[in-house]
Amino acid sequence: MKTKFQEQIEEVTRSSIPMHMPGHKRNVAMLGDDLPYSVDVTEIDGADDLHDPEADGIIGSLCEKYSSLYGARSARPLINGSTCGILAGIRTLTSPGDSVIVARNCHKSVWHAIEICRLNPTCILPPITPEHGICDAITAEAIEEAFERSSGATCVILTSPTYEGVISDIDAISSVCKKHGAALFVDAAHGAHLGFSNLFPDFPRGADIAVTSLHKTLPALTQTALGLVFNEKYSSRFARNLGIFETSSPSYILMNSIAKCADILADGNALFDNYRTILDEFYASTNPSKLNLIKTDDIGKISISTRNTTFTGSSLADALRSRFSIEPEMVHSDYLLCMTSVCDTRETLSALSKAIMSLDEEAEYSDKKSIPSFITELPPAEIPLHDAVWLDLEGREDISDAYVWVYPPGIPILLPGEKVTEEIKNHLEMLKNSGISPKIIKTS
Ligand SMILES: Cc1ncc(COP(=O)(O)O)c(C=O)c1O
Repeated sequence: MKTKFQEQIEEVTRSSIPMHMPGHKRNVAMLGDDLPYSVDVTEIDGADDLHDPEADGIIGSLCEKYSSLYGARSARPLINGSTCGILAGIRTLTSPGDSVIVARNCHKSVWHAIEICRLNPTCILPPITPEHGICDAITAEAIEEAFERSSGATCVILTSPTYEGVISDIDAISSVCKKHGAALFVDAAHGAHLGFSNLFPDFPRGADIAVTSLHKTLPALTQTALGLVFNEKYSSRFARNLGIFETSSPSYILMNSIAKCADILADGNALFDNYRTILDEFYASTNPSKLNLIKTDDIGKISISTRNTTFTGSSLADALRSRFSIEPEMVHSDYLLCMTSVCDTRETLSALSKAIMSLDEEAEYSDKKSIPSFITELPPAEIPLHDAVWLDLEGREDISDAYVWVYPPGIPILLPGEKVTEEIKNHLEMLKNSGISPKIIKTS
């Protein structure tokens, strides 16, 4: 069914001759209709403006719908992914040179914000779960302890939920932030579906600003996301910063997808009920004895641990692809992650269940060494990140001149300016030996 958004776009374009961008001029007679030319417009009269939406405009009413869906003071549709919202959100909550507290397992976009905003991070290393070696939640106590280590941090930045669905207690962390007069930014890129069913915990509303990717866990096109402001005093500053990091030629195709997703969420009870049913069926029929399902706060994230088996994450992924035509979302040394959403069906989850059970039969026990998914010691920052990226560190074996991450998830194992410790070298070596190739993004 067409969205009201699309109907309004059709209405404003119906009888006009486009003497404006885009250059395809909606000329499907010339170009064919294999691409959605006819609904791809720009900010013409009647089509509102993403960077300055009108209260009664088509984008303004989309902002309003999302504020109410997520219980935010204001909401901004994003068409450059969560990435642009993270850059804008962190710039909104800080001033250059500020001291900030950051969970070390944040996505590269957070570290890029820290780099370009010239922030000084006090890092919190998340605990690693002993059973599966994934990053666990960041506690309010760990934040409190980080405030003691930092000199007057003005902002706390963390990821919740994580890729695997681990959720931190944002309300408790928010109280600690308030006590210290600091703002709280939450990267909830993986949590757009939270709060829409009692199947999942609530969305992290205790943040001053949170960003979430609609495209990751909800029915929306790639690149669509939301910036959600829960503390009104940051609304206009966030909007201005989005103007810096987000394109000035936003795609109406993507915005239409954001509109459609809002319609689906507003009427989503049956969809989420069905999701619950098929997930329940999946878990009831999937009881591997050697492979292990990693349970997190988000039961929609199906992570399969290969620890203590002859499989690695990579070899299990190869088997899923080549023999069961299943493409996982993320592969790590000792596990892989299959993402589900309301758009999965009984058939897709049943296929996954059968594949897991069949591969479990083939798996054998192994006493191979377990590999944590992330570093377990913080490498000292010898040179501040924002300075290190401008220095020529070529030939300095002891200090990193690069961001080093495995992609996905794109979480830096090593940051520019950090000491290349023996632990880091061993970690990178272990990853390579298990078939995972870290990417090295040189800055000098
Ligand atoms: C934790 C986290 N934050 C942010 C992002 C960036 O999201 P987007 O791809 O929507 O820009 C990602 C992408 O994978 C992510 O995993």
